[in-house]
Amino acid sequence: MLRWINRLTQNGKFHPMWIVLATSAIAVVAAMIAVPAIYEGAKEPKKPSPVAVKQIPAAANLPEPDSGQHDLKPAPAGVQAVHFTPPAESEMPSGEFGDTVKLGRNIFVHTQTYAKGFVGNGLNCVNCHLDAGRKADATPLWAAYVKFPAYRDKNKKVNSYEDRLAGCFRFSMNGTAPDYNSKEMIALTTYSYWLAKGAPTGVELAGRGYPKLENPPLAPDTTRGATVYQANCALCHGADGLGTKVNGQYAFPPLWGSDSFNAGAGMHSVKNAAAFIKANMPLGKGNSLSLQEAWDVAQFVDTHDRPADPRGK
Ligand code: HEC
Ligand code: HEC
Repeated sequence: MLRWINRLTQNGKFHPMWIVLATSAIAVVAAMIAVPAIYEGAKEPKKPSPVAVKQIPAAANLPEPDSGQHDLKPAPAGVQAVHFTPPAESEMPSGEFGDTVKLGRNIFVHTQTYAKGFVGNGLNCVNCHLDAGRKADATPLWAAYVKFPAYRDKNKKVNSYEDRLAGCFRFSMNGTAPDYNSKEMIALTTYSYWLAKGAPTGVELAGRGYPKLENPPLAPDTTRGATVYQANCALCHGADGLGTKVNGQYAFPPLWGSDSFNAGAGMHSVKNAAAFIKANMPLGKGNSLSLQEAWDVAQFVDTHDRPADPRGK
């Protein structure tokens, strides 16, 4: 789209003011159309055959984690990752159980409305776990659910699934997790359980977390990252990175500042952010950035101020 505008400008067919107007119009229209479409996208019918086996690449040439903040390690060479498709939205059950699944989905997608009291920033869970927690390569809930309880380096203990949810409330949402027996926690767990229906437990499902990223050819660089940002991200997230609100809620979430994730969050690790961005951003055009661009822009995002790590680190 930007290239198109550039071409028109170079041809001299546009007065520059048109570009300003068009850009504003695009941002507003995108906010009104794209965002509901993302949420609705989750309703697309999915093929029912849930389990198939896929060979995942050898881990030999994958880089070491750059910090202790993430715990999604590549599977050892030759280990088979299991392919899985969650049930379609239209298959959501009815009755009390179904109501709880739906509440869990609502909390996940509209956290600002359904669990506001537990959140200390402007984000919704779905902002990082795309398609209502369904999208492979965007840390889908179905792949997480079957891997807990699990030991995590981050807090050096075996974590329950609730512990893991609580981690994202504390760091990604800069808030305080609801009690493990609260309706919010039970609903989020029930929604995850339902999304994982038919998946084997204790198995690494293909699409868990983010695809592992190779190290970039050059060390990540903030100056290059700023250029990548202005060209590919500013349109939605704002030139100032503070996101764009429509009717008091973020249509495009902030990447830094007081309404964003805190410095203890998984997304604050440059490696995690680079992996998320490479696979998923710009929204709808995942994998369009080069490896270098993804690392550079992640480094750039990482240099900005955000709420402090609540552990005082
Ligand atoms: C700012 C982005 C962001 C937001 C917002 C966010 N998360 Fe996360 N979440 C992450 C990242 C990054 C990871 C993976 C971290 C890692 O590699 O260990 C993660 C991991 C998880 C996992 C474990 C995934 C796995 O496969 O082990 C669950 C479950 C989860 N988040 C649930 C939630 C819930 C529930 C919310 C809302 C209350 C939420 N997240 C909000 C970024 C986010
Ligand atoms: C077309 C609009 C659009 C563009 C362009 C775009 N994003 Fe996003 N981005 C979004 C939306 C919308 C979300 C939240 C997704 C959701 O809620 O389903 C998001 C989420 C994110 C998140 C996680 C949430 C948060 O606030 O931290 C990060 C990080 C991110 N984008 C980085 C980038 C980067 C870096 C670029 C440029 C390479 C980029 N985005 C380009 C629309 C966009």
